Amino acid sequence: MKLVLATANPDKAREIGDVLRGAGIAVDLLPRPDDVPEVEETGLTLEENARLKAVALCTATGLPAVADDTGLEVDALDGAPGVRTARFAGPNASYADNVAQLLDAIAGVDTERRTARFTTVALAHWPDGREVAAIGTVEGVIAHEVRGERGFGYDPVFVPAEGDGRTFAQMAPAEKHAISHRGRAFRTLADGLRVVETLELEH
Ligand code: IMP
Repeated sequence: MKLVLATANPDKAREIGDVLRGAGIAVDLLPRPDDVPEVEETGLTLEENARLKAVALCTATGLPAVADDTGLEVDALDGAPGVRTARFAGPNASYADNVAQLLDAIAGVDTERRTARFTTVALAHWPDGREVAAIGTVEGVIAHEVRGERGFGYDPVFVPAEGDGRTFAQMAPAEKHAISHRGRAFRTLADGLRVVETLELEH
């Protein structure tokens, strides 16, 4: 099965490839063509944004496309940054800018009240309108300071509840994928892709 990856983010692309391969699905992930313009994430939900990205790439290439949209919800910030996770510190914010903005926004909040969760919606869209979608979530807390060099985005400050106190940035990729929002979403998506593949073989 050939799928065009809607993301231009190399960190996300690497993780999606790792997880789908780990799920044992024979999928050929094609990189997003350079000439397709960046899709504006104008949706109000992760699902709407994932669909906007997958449909845009599918329309531009004529091939099935897969997208993910991820949000971080921090309880002490009433669910922010949410759909604004990528641009929490402004339109062209770097990962470090966003992390600094987050640590600033919850400075003084004690550990018990620093609860948060990552959610990913993974969505594949076919030219004939078929769609498979999946959701994955991981609960955790926001650390008081950055720890670790691996991963990307908010990984240096996200401590998953199912872990041993390390941030995602202190874990090997396989450890992160085993419990992460993206790992969970794309393993469930892989089940849906298998169903599509089986139905295609039957026709
Ligand atoms: P997007 O809108 O799905 O591209 O992702 C929103 C933002 O969430 C990204 O720019 C990253 O800063 C952050 N993000 C997405 N996935 C992860 C992750 O697995 N770990 C940490 N941060 C992430």
